[in-house]
Amino acid sequence: MKQPWWKEAVVYQIYPRSFQDSNGDGIGDLPGIVSRLDYLNDLGVNVIWLSPVYESPNDDNGYDISNYYGIMKDFGTMADWKSLLNGLHERGMKLVMDLVVNHTSDEHPWFIESRKAQTSPKREFYIWRPPRNGKEPNNWASFFSPSAWKFDPATGEYYLHLFSEKQPDLNWENPQVQTEIFSMIQWWLDQGIDGFRMDVINFIGKPAGLLDSPRAPTHPDGYVHDPSFYANQPFTHTLLHKLNREVLSLYDVMTVGETPEVTPETASLYVAPDRQELNMVFQFELMGVDAGPNGKWDVQPWKLSDFKRLVSKWQTGLAGRGWNSLYLSNHDQPRQVSRFGDDKQYRLESAKLLATLLHTLQGTPYIYQGEELGMTNVAFPRLDDYRDLETFHFAATARKQGYDESWIMNAIHRVSRDNARTPMPWNSQKNAGFTTGTPWIDLNPNFSNINVSQALADPNSVLRYYQALIRLRRQEPTVVVGTYVPLLENHEQLFVYQRRGPNTLLIILNFCGQTTRWSVNEAQAVGLTPHAILLLSNYPDMVNDSAKSSPSLSEFQPWEARVYRLES
Ligand code: GLC
Ligand code: CA
Repeated sequence: MKQPWWKEAVVYQIYPRSFQDSNGDGIGDLPGIVSRLDYLNDLGVNVIWLSPVYESPNDDNGYDISNYYGIMKDFGTMADWKSLLNGLHERGMKLVMDLVVNHTSDEHPWFIESRKAQTSPKREFYIWRPPRNGKEPNNWASFFSPSAWKFDPATGEYYLHLFSEKQPDLNWENPQVQTEIFSMIQWWLDQGIDGFRMDVINFIGKPAGLLDSPRAPTHPDGYVHDPSFYANQPFTHTLLHKLNREVLSLYDVMTVGETPEVTPETASLYVAPDRQELNMVFQFELMGVDAGPNGKWDVQPWKLSDFKRLVSKWQTGLAGRGWNSLYLSNHDQPRQVSRFGDDKQYRLESAKLLATLLHTLQGTPYIYQGEELGMTNVAFPRLDDYRDLETFHFAATARKQGYDESWIMNAIHRVSRDNARTPMPWNSQKNAGFTTGTPWIDLNPNFSNINVSQALADPNSVLRYYQALIRLRRQEPTVVVGTYVPLLENHEQLFVYQRRGPNTLLIILNFCGQTTRWSVNEAQAVGLTPHAILLLSNYPDMVNDSAKSSPSLSEFQPWEARVYRLES
C-alpha cells in the first residue's frame, strides 16, 4: 500500500543561525543554506525543517516573531527564501517551515498596538489581566523568567508570557486571532511549502479562568513551573481540528506538533487520522529520561531499561493509532552522542549506534544538523560564552537557590541548548568554514577533527553511516511499515527489537562501552541464527566478514549495532 510521503521521509532540521554564513557577518543565512543543498541531497534526507527565519528581534533566536510575512534581515530576503524553496524542489526535496503561533514578539505590530490602551482594537489579541492583590494574576512560572506575567505600567495590567517577556502569548479565544493566523498559514502554503513544524502547539488553548497551579513552588519567588496545567486543553483540539479542516487539508502537506507533556494517550488525540488534527507530534518523555525531580537541569544518570521502556511505550502506544516522530536531538537538546553515547573513546561507534536506533524504529526520523557528524556537547568555560536566554534564566535561578558556580556550569555543560547551537563545522580551516567573520557563538573547539570534509573523506565516518541507514529505509519497506516488537526488555546493556512487516528485521544495540556475550541459546531466542543476514553494522569488519561463519556472532563489541534480516 502506498504510504503518505511523510511516512517514508527522512527529515533534517536546520538551525539557520548556525548552519552556514555567506556574507561574513558571523550569522548563518539563507544563501548559506542554498550553497549547501547538494550536501543535504547527498546525505539522502528529503525534507528540510527550517527553524524560524521570519522577522524577529531575536530575543529567542527567531522564536519571537515580529512579522510573519517577512524574512529576518540577518538571514536574507524573500528572494533568498524563494531560491531555497526552488533549490529544494529542483532536487526532489521538500521544505517544512516552523510555525510559532503560541506567542509573537512584543515587537509585533499587534502587541505594540495592544499595549497602548485597554480599549485598543488589538487589546484582545493577547492575554491581559488586572493585578491580583497588587501582584501577578496567578502563580504560573515562565520557561525563561520567574513569573509568566509582566506588568505593563502604561495600562496598569499584566500580560501573559509562558516564554520570555518578549514573547507575549496570543489569545486564541479571539476569533480575529484565529482568522489572522489561519490566513497567514494559508499564505505560506500558497508559496508552495510542504508543511509545518508547530512550536509548542499544545499550549495555544489556555485553561478557563487561568487559575493557580496547585503544585508546590518550583521557583524561589514562589512561582510554579507546571506546563501540564495548561497543556493539551480541549480548546486546543478544537482549534487544530478547525485549522485542519479549513486550511491544512486543502494541501498535500505534513504537520508535526511540538508537544511537551504528552503521553501516547494524549498524543493520539492529535495524531489519530480520524480526528483530523496533525500528522505527528514530538513527545518529550524520552528526553526526560535523564531529568531529576527538579527538572532538566537536575541531570541524573539514566538506566537503559528506563530508556527502552519509554521508547517501547511510544512504539506500541501509538501503533495502529497514529504515526511516531523520532528524534534524539534538536536545537533545544544537548548533543545525543554526549548525552546517550560516549563522546570520547567510542564517539564514532556510539554515534552510529544512536543513529541505528533513530532510523530503525517505527516512525519518521528527524536528524538535527551536525548529528550526522557525531557532533558533541561543548563546555564553554564562562557563562558569558553562552547566548541562550534559557541558560541565563537557569543560572540566575540556581544562584538564587544557593547552588555554587561549578554545579551551575556543570549543568550548563550537560544540558544547555547552546550545546546544539555551535556552528556547523564544514572543514578544519578558520572558523570551520562557517564564517569568514566572527561567529555569533563560538565553535566547538573540536571542529578540527569533527567536520564535514573529514567525514566525506572517511568511508567509516558517522556521515557515511547515516547515508547507509537512509538507503536502508529506501530499500527495505519493513523499516517504514513493520511493527515493533521489543525483546529482552530488562537487559541493561542490550537494546534488542524486531520489526515485522514484509520481512522480519532484528536490531541489536550493545548500548555500553563493554563487550556483551550471548550463549547460542540466548542468540537463538531472539532469532539470531547463522542464517540471519547482516544488513548493516557499525563495526565495518563485521559486514566484510561473512556474518555466517563469524565466531563473533553472539559477541557484541562496545557500542556495536547490527541490523539483520531474518530468513522467513
Ligand atoms: C519551542 C522551541 C524553543 C523555543 C520555545 C518558545 O520549545 O523549540 O526553541 O524557545 O518553543 O518559542
Ligand atoms: Ca550572514
